[in-house]
Amino acid sequence: MKFKSITGAKDILPAESYRWQYVEQTFRDLAHRYNFKEIRTPVFEQTELFARSIGELTDIVGKEMYTFEDRSGNSLTLKPEMTAGVIRAFLQHNLGQQQPVTKVYYLAPMFRQERPQKGRLRQFHQFGLEIIGSPHAEADAEIIVMTAEYYSQLGITQAGLKINSVGCEKCRPAYKEKLKDYLRPHLSKLSQDSQRRFETNPLRILDSKDERDRELTIDAPLQKDNLCRECNEHFIRLQEILTEAAVSFTVDGRIVRGLDYYTKTAFEFISPALGSQDALSGGGRYDLLAKELGGGNVPAVGVAGGIERLLLVLEAGGLSAGGEQVPVVYLAAADNESRAWLYGITQQLRRNGIPCDTDLMNRSLKAQMREASRQQVLYTIIAGTAERNRNEVVVKNMERGKQKSVPVNELVDTLTQQLPGTGNAS
Ligand code: HAM
Repeated sequence: MKFKSITGAKDILPAESYRWQYVEQTFRDLAHRYNFKEIRTPVFEQTELFARSIGELTDIVGKEMYTFEDRSGNSLTLKPEMTAGVIRAFLQHNLGQQQPVTKVYYLAPMFRQERPQKGRLRQFHQFGLEIIGSPHAEADAEIIVMTAEYYSQLGITQAGLKINSVGCEKCRPAYKEKLKDYLRPHLSKLSQDSQRRFETNPLRILDSKDERDRELTIDAPLQKDNLCRECNEHFIRLQEILTEAAVSFTVDGRIVRGLDYYTKTAFEFISPALGSQDALSGGGRYDLLAKELGGGNVPAVGVAGGIERLLLVLEAGGLSAGGEQVPVVYLAAADNESRAWLYGITQQLRRNGIPCDTDLMNRSLKAQMREASRQQVLYTIIAGTAERNRNEVVVKNMERGKQKSVPVNELVDTLTQQLPGTGNAS
């Protein structure tokens, strides 16, 4: 074979797509129950939108974006995340004028040029939620509670929730200095990455995966212990609501997140089944992003989670991910003259909600019967010239091997009575 998919970009093949549909449908149904409406934004945006939102100095913007110049010389980027595009759309279409709070959800592919490994791809898919317009901890809670509920509905019981507060523009600068004062004597012993981050984003040193960094920062001051009054009250309120909603969590002062736009709440759901890439989802509050993008004062909070990682966890836990859609009826023509006639009947059954399949290869009756068995249908409908002349078909119960003649005008009723969950069957 000449062509292969790009490294880190996977095909979702017919035999596995039902699992995707299951987790996506469960998410959609739940989002609608919480009154979120779907938003779809373009796959590419101006590069500047992401640079401004996510932060010039982050790994995503610095080394992971798929950026290209189009034929008109515009710098465009395949979206590495959704939040920037959602806020861009919110501002562009004045969504805030129509209602005080905008609640949106999405399911979409994202693109980051990371080193592919288990749970880390270059084209991956996210589910996500954003609540735009509310500065209150109730909105943070709504995001977290629905995410927890989603995992619980899927049967994932081991998704641990870690929450933190990363402060705001009032309390963060002083804390940053305090942290730098603590780190300065250890600077030369920190990893290269952390040394680089010392000036640009010292908070990220706290969530370094490097063992030595971890040891050196074990007693480092944390933002959650250095919050201004407003941030502190917000954080406490969030914890109260989560407790009332029976969502368990731990406070982890090292959750910093890899995107620069967060203020106050930052959180992650993690799963031990995922290994080193253990974040099932992550999010937080981003009250300054709209202003950064040229809008007004629009507080917002959201979450996004990887669908591939979700499916890995379902698989590792032996959890159900729905079932494959299969035809329940196969229609087999006994002779060539009856094929078109039988195709008309196939179409009638489908219109009545009965999933069925028929031969598209002009095969012999024997080969068609083999195909019906291979597809494990419950019934095979067989008709040749004799049946056609009597305007009836033979219905064979594949499990019992029994068969009977059924007039065509009674066929839909006969099948729907016997097939639970199809068409008009009540
Ligand atoms: P993020 O932490 O960059 O946040 O990504 C969210 C989730 O997407 C991760 O927890 C992970 O499950 C999944 N993910 C990220 N990168 C990859 C990858 N290369 N391969 C597979 N899965 C991946 C955001 O994207 C923010 N926009 C979340 C947010 C929404 N914050 C506020 N609103």
